Amino acid sequence: MDMRLWSLISKDYSYAEKVDMQGSEEVTVEVDDDGMNGKMVLEGRGLGVLYANKYAIKDVNIKIVRNTITAIIGPSGCGKSTLLRCFNRMNDLLDARIEGEILFNDYNIYSNGINVAEVRRLIGMVFQKPNPFPTSIYNNVAFGLRINGFKGDIDEQVEYALREAALWDEVKDRLNDNAYSLSGGQQQRLCIARALAVEPEVLLMDEPTASLDPIASARIEQLITRLKEKITIVIVTHNIQQAARVSDYVNVMMVDENMIGRLIESGPTREVFESPKSKVTEDYISGRFG
Ligand SMILES: Nc1ncnc2c1ncn2[C@@H]1O[C@H](COP(=O)(O)OP(=O)(O)OP(=O)(O)O)[C@@H](O)[C@H]1O
Ligand SMILES: [Mg+2]
Repeated sequence: MDMRLWSLISKDYSYAEKVDMQGSEEVTVEVDDDGMNGKMVLEGRGLGVLYANKYAIKDVNIKIVRNTITAIIGPSGCGKSTLLRCFNRMNDLLDARIEGEILFNDYNIYSNGINVAEVRRLIGMVFQKPNPFPTSIYNNVAFGLRINGFKGDIDEQVEYALREAALWDEVKDRLNDNAYSLSGGQQQRLCIARALAVEPEVLLMDEPTASLDPIASARIEQLITRLKEKITIVIVTHNIQQAARVSDYVNVMMVDENMIGRLIESGPTREVFESPKSKVTEDYISGRFG
């Protein structure tokens, strides 16, 4: 049992009993019938999200394997961002109703008594448009540490996060400059550093390179490929080539005849790209629509 998971639980002591009874064994799920052999870090079961009583996504079952990159692809409006936001309860901030459950290390993050701030620390998020805070480079990275009452050396942790985000060499002599003085690609790596500073287990990325040029995008792709040694990445992308290049697993979403987002195909990226099960997937990944 990862002790950091413990901090997720603020009131629900039934979980404490479960942990006591099971000793220090980490609870994991081994699956091999669907080509997903690794240990699951996140799993969505029967997920549905409704905005104003209308389903945006429905009946989504999805598994995320630890230390891999999982891509979510599909045409605009099919519910990729909506699904991604379920993983760290970001939909709570919108007027959305959620059905089903999300298991994070086997514990439902939608159950009563969950510390949502802690969920969002352990499952960080990076958005399409870089969104640094209007303050120094240093303060951006130190922000999460300060609000989480980090007890260690903040300078060291800021350097660690900037190195992890492959930005340190470019900014080490200008840490007090405003974050807005950085290029778009640097700002996106700063946002990644800000998320990494609090040592998440999972990083959710919603089209993180969509606003960047090809060189800046390639740097982010290299970066996330390296990051998966330490953390798990779930990336939404419109770029099918990017999904093919970086992801280990891919999930394809489409809207059905009622305009409700459905997960229509999942599996190891190579399998899905080389031998898609459905004609719709084949048409989508070969660029015939979307
Ligand atoms: N905050 C919201 N309130 C109401 N409806 C929403 C909200 N966010 C998304 N939707 C609707 O839910 C559906 C799915 O939207 P979502 O943003 O998840 O799609 P997407 O696949 O990420 O699209 P894109 O590729 O354009 O980013 C759409 O019909 C959208 O209009
Ligand atoms: Mg989106």
